[in-house]
Amino acid sequence: MEEKNLIIGSVLGQASKSEEILVVTSLDKSGKLKKATILAHDTSYETILLQVVDKITLSDVSEQDLFLMSENERLAFKILEKSPVTYVLKTLIVGSIRLEENQKNIFGSPNSFVADKSRDVRKLSKEEKKMIYDRGSLEVGITFDDSKVTLPVNGLLQRHLSIIGMTGCGKSFLIGLLCEELAKHNAAILLLDPHNEYLPMAQSLPKKTKRMLYGLGTAAGLNKFTLDVKNISAYDFKHFTGMGDGSTSILDQVIREMKKRNQRYSMDDIIAQLNNKVNNSSKSEATAASWARNYLQNLASTGFFGTSEPKIGEMIQANQVSVIAMSGIKEKIQQFIITNLLQRIFDARRKEEIPPVVLIVEEAHRFAPSGQNVSSSDILRTLATEGRKFGICLFVASQRPNRLDSTVLSQCVTNIVMKIKNPADLASVRESAENATEDVINQLPKFERGEALVMGESFPVSIRFMVKSERKTKHGGKSVDYKSIWKEETKRTDSETYEFPDEL
Ligand SMILES: Nc1ncnc2c1ncn2[C@@H]1O[C@H](COP(=O)(O)OP(=O)(O)OP(=O)(O)O)[C@@H](O)[C@H]1O
Ligand SMILES: [Mg+2]
Repeated sequence: MEEKNLIIGSVLGQASKSEEILVVTSLDKSGKLKKATILAHDTSYETILLQVVDKITLSDVSEQDLFLMSENERLAFKILEKSPVTYVLKTLIVGSIRLEENQKNIFGSPNSFVADKSRDVRKLSKEEKKMIYDRGSLEVGITFDDSKVTLPVNGLLQRHLSIIGMTGCGKSFLIGLLCEELAKHNAAILLLDPHNEYLPMAQSLPKKTKRMLYGLGTAAGLNKFTLDVKNISAYDFKHFTGMGDGSTSILDQVIREMKKRNQRYSMDDIIAQLNNKVNNSSKSEATAASWARNYLQNLASTGFFGTSEPKIGEMIQANQVSVIAMSGIKEKIQQFIITNLLQRIFDARRKEEIPPVVLIVEEAHRFAPSGQNVSSSDILRTLATEGRKFGICLFVASQRPNRLDSTVLSQCVTNIVMKIKNPADLASVRESAENATEDVINQLPKFERGEALVMGESFPVSIRFMVKSERKTKHGGKSVDYKSIWKEETKRTDSETYEFPDEL
């Protein structure tokens, strides 16, 4: 009988688009309906789920609208005109709940839409809300009408995930939250962190979770992440220094000679050998060698070339969050380091030397940009297409889906979309996310900070929710508080200003 009490209105009919249904209701019955609320209409074989997308009030309807409106919308207008406490909801069919094999199941679309005789539209029952929103054990947020939103661990990880939204919309905050929630399930997580913003999160995780924090180059207080120079060819060096062909060829010669002697060698040894060439070669060769030496000296000063590399088995372990902090390192070098690292992870996972892992790639458009091939593009495409089978789940975050490689983006079949305004980015979400209907796309520019929509195979009905603001761990990607910093700074500099005495 609970369901009778939930009735708030009735179906008026289909709107101008067939998937849109108009519902008449009155303020007293529905109370305040929150945005994106899902309502239900019971037919004899299923419960059709209708998400509120718009509330039409008399003032919203212009004469021109009226002229363009379908019959049912005209009817809606007439109803509105008669009673000021009545309004019309434009709703979207987003799924259905049907009894199959003695069990209620949720589906992405109804068998058909034929309004039941009763035409009753009701609020969801507790059980239905649970089916739609409470899907697992990762607690991520709350809907606008106060239902808890949880995501399933396996449902989320068995497909790659993209997290897309414009700057400041809350992507990194959500990633931090997901790490925190996944850590409760002993996850093995590796975060590629171009801005060092996940270090506070990892450092503040509960004690039970192990953490390994790596810094490239000379970052203090972190485990040193170095690349073994033995695994780097002259052409690799060329790739990220931009050295000329002559210098590359001399460098190649030097590296080959050292390898032939089966010698352990460091960056300094290569530089010493190049010096040798500078002093003992013909003029043109000496010039090429001196250029190569200068390039390598520059690289050596960054401190991320060594004679060993961190072991993958140490970096990726169950119940461990590892962060590779890369701030301050040139993009080309970040790409190169990631290529090498991801290839080793892929190999180790294929041989099952490490547990299944979640690889989080922040600012993914840097590492697999659309329309160009950078050194990390291939391995990211490989991981996107083949990684899943081997227990590698990618979380790919980007402000600019339009600038992200389309293979990588399209393999992320679970999508968490946050606020997006740019038309080109909206277009790429439209293309890559299966469930992104035109109505969904139109809502994205109006999203608030922290508002998210999760879509994908594990979510027959997409969930629109607010990411919860309480996190146990610290978020590193804080927005700059201009006002208070300027105020503080003014106070500080004012007190330092020399004041003229009143009388000289
Ligand atoms: N759900 C939330 N609750 C409270 N604060 C939030 C939430 N989401 C984001 N914020 C705050 O908003 C600011 C921006 O969030 P965040 O760093 O996650 O943005 P972003 O989408 O990663 O941006 P960018 O693309 O520039 O990295 C931060 O100060 C963060 O603390
Ligand atoms: Mg961010």
